[in-house]
Parts: sequence; structure tokens; C-alpha cells
Amino acid sequence: MTLLFENLQKGIHINTKLLKLHINVIRRLFGLKSYDLSVTCLTNHEIAKLNAQYRGKKEPTDVLAFPFYENIKPGVLPSSTDVLDLGDIYLDMDEKLQSHRENCESKNENSCSNIKEDIKEKDLDAKMNNISFTDMQCVKDESGETSGNDKSDEKYCHPARKLSEAEITKLQKDVTCVSDFKRNKLEKEAQKNWDLFYKRNTTKFFKDRHWTKREFDELCPMDVQTGRRTVLEVGCGVGNFIWPLLQEDQSLFFYACDFSPRAVQFVKDNPNFDPSRCCAFQCDLTSDDLRVTVPHDSVDVVSMIFVLSAIHPQKMESALSNIIKVMKPGGSLLFRDYGLYDYAMLRFAPGHKLSENFYVRQDGTRAYYFTTDKVLELAGNSGFDLLESQCEYIQRETINKKEDLCVPRIFVQGKFVKPRST
Ligand SMILES: C[S@@+](CC[C@H](N)C(=O)[O-])C[C@H]1O[C@@H](n2cnc3c(N)ncnc32)[C@H](O)[C@@H]1O
Repeated sequence: MTLLFENLQKGIHINTKLLKLHINVIRRLFGLKSYDLSVTCLTNHEIAKLNAQYRGKKEPTDVLAFPFYENIKPGVLPSSTDVLDLGDIYLDMDEKLQSHRENCESKNENSCSNIKEDIKEKDLDAKMNNISFTDMQCVKDESGETSGNDKSDEKYCHPARKLSEAEITKLQKDVTCVSDFKRNKLEKEAQKNWDLFYKRNTTKFFKDRHWTKREFDELCPMDVQTGRRTVLEVGCGVGNFIWPLLQEDQSLFFYACDFSPRAVQFVKDNPNFDPSRCCAFQCDLTSDDLRVTVPHDSVDVVSMIFVLSAIHPQKMESALSNIIKVMKPGGSLLFRDYGLYDYAMLRFAPGHKLSENFYVRQDGTRAYYFTTDKVLELAGNSGFDLLESQCEYIQRETINKKEDLCVPRIFVQGKFVKPRST
């Protein structure tokens, strides 16, 4: 259905409308109109990097195609209508320019003055036609496979939610995880996918978080004058958590960081952004030391709202260990994230499962669905004082305006305290 087209090179002007039209014609000709496809135009240098990363070949190549389904047999489409995704295609535009020049020389043409025009019309046309049909095939869907099913309903007991028979059956059937290749690719492209998320949705996706003071006393203005209080908002997105608090409490100073450079820029461009009260910076919590920007032991309160779920389970602990280093002893990490068997988890169609409780959305961003035990275990292993901490399931309803639905949500909410002395 969706054609995600990106032109990440500036050297060659492209008639994007024409290119998109051609791609859509090809999709229609092959009966693949309803399949998602991503096409990206790159420079020689960028495609060489991808070629080295995914195929172990250091040189550039004219086209790279990564089918969504692997081990594909030509002519076979998925047997169900679950994930209609062809995958990603990368085009090397520099190579095209080069071959066009060579073409001109061999024809003894004096000039390539119409080069841009020719490239955008003819060569792109040829390039699209060169993408073989087999590159775009899909494997038979394997969601019918039931081996490894846990037939016991006990596994599906939940303190906050009783699952229906249909929901249990759906979870039991969804045992097939996406391939290692796809999983690695999603991990490598996690930042890109979040950045694209903000490119598509700009500041319009999440609403300002007006509930935070109600849920976390730590965010309420202090009765006694305590001077400046420092809050670090990790995975801040476009700042929806920060704006209401910044306006209401003059004593707060915010550090705000996110993976996505675009999201950070949205924070800085917001009319409420005041550099004397807010420092926004780009950072990967799993690998960039927060202490480069935020002094060691300096933060009173950290907020982490729907962020840990976006991080690979094997890297969650390193993200929390990174955070605790900048917290004051006795400081709190305020946490809310998706809970096990949340409405959104039960809606995933087969083909989206990455590992136990970890799923990929259509746009490549990922979500983990936590049990309270899992969050407590991660917090304990990262050095938080579990005796002083709290963690619970909470149930909320959210309105899905698009589908005119009021849906029950399950979140895990907690407060984790850094030990006062070590
Ligand atoms: C679901 S959004 C939540 C945004 C914001 N906390 C809110 O509640 O509106 C998850 C955010 O986590 C960020 N994120 C994901 N992985 C990250 C990482 N490794 N380091 C820093 N931020 C990350 C994403 O860029 C995204 O903005």
C-alpha cells in the first residue's frame, strides 16, 4: 500500500513524481499493489557502506534489495494477508550518473548537457526495470506453524487483564519470529526508523503529557524552596512530557535527550524551549555516555516514558546503567511503559514478532511489552534500590479517534530509587 520513498543524495536531481509513478506501475503490473515498499536513492559512498554491512562486499553496487521475507521462492506470495511488505530497495545514483557519462562518450557525444533530464526520465526507468521480480517475492507465510506452542493457559494469566479464548489462541499461534537478518537490520536501523517516524509524524503524534504530576509526586512543585531541581527526560521525542512542567514550575531545569536528531530539533524549535532552562541533545542511551553532557550524580529526577520498550532487550540494562550514573544518590527514575497483553500487543498480526514479548511495528520501530517482574529485574541489575522502589500494572483507556474506539491499555508504572550510599 505505502510507498516510502526517500532521496538521501543531492548530487543528482530526481524527478521523484515520475519515479514513484514508475514504481507504482511496476507494483500494479505484478499484482503487488497492496504491498508496502521502501525505495531509497543513495550516493555511491552510502551504498558501499550498506553493501559492506549486509553483504560483506566493500565496493558500491548499483542496486541493493532486501526482501521483507527471506528464503523466497519466485512466484510465491504470502498465503495470508498479514504483512504485505516487499522490503527495501536502495539505488546508487552516482553509479547511474557514471554509466550515463560512459554511454555518452561511447556514442561520441560532445556533451551530456541533458544529463539531468535523461537520468531522471530514462535511466531511472531502466533502473527500475532492472530490479528483478524475484528480488521482490515473498515467502509463504508460516504463521500456521504450531510447533513449540505452550498449550497451557496458565502462561496467559495476568493480574491486570483476563484474556479471552480468542486472544489466547492468537498468542499461542504467533510463535514464528522474524529472521535473524531482519532482526539485525532493525537493530542497526533503529535510529533511522525513529528519525523517519518523526519525519512522517512531525510533532503531531504524541500529545502533551498532562497527567505526569497526578501520577508522580516527585514532579509536583515543592512546598519549601529547594532551589533549582534538575530533571532528565530520556527518549524525550518532541518534548510532550516537558512542556507542561516547564511552564508550571519555574524551579525545574530540564535535560532532554533522544535517539532521533529530528526529534531533538523539534524540541529546540518549540516556542516553549528556553535554553536557560532546558538543554536538548541527541544521544543513544545504550552506547553514548550521558555524562558527556549531564554531570555525574547531578539529576534529581529522571523520566523514562515509553522509551525502554523501544530498546533491544539485551541493551535495556546498559541504558539503565547509563542513566543511574548521572542521578543524585536518593534520586528517582520515573517509569511508564507498555505492559504485557496491552491492547497494542494483542493487535500484532503474525510476522511482527521479534522475540518473546518484543514486536516490530509496520514502520520498523519496535515495542517490548513488560511484566512488572521484568522491569524490577532490569532495575535491580542496573543498581537501583529495590527496597525503596515501586512497580505496578496500571490500566488506562485511550481513545483511538481514527477508528472511533476506546481501548483498554495496560502499562507498567514504577519509581526506581538510586541508593543513597554505595
Ligand atoms: C514511544 S517514543 C516516546 C517519546 C516520549 N517519551 C513521549 O512519551 O512522548 C520512544 C522514544 O524513544 C526514543 N529512543 C528509542 N531508542 C532510543 C535510544 N537507544 N536512546 C535514546 N532514545 C531512544 C525514540 O527516538 C522515541 O523518541
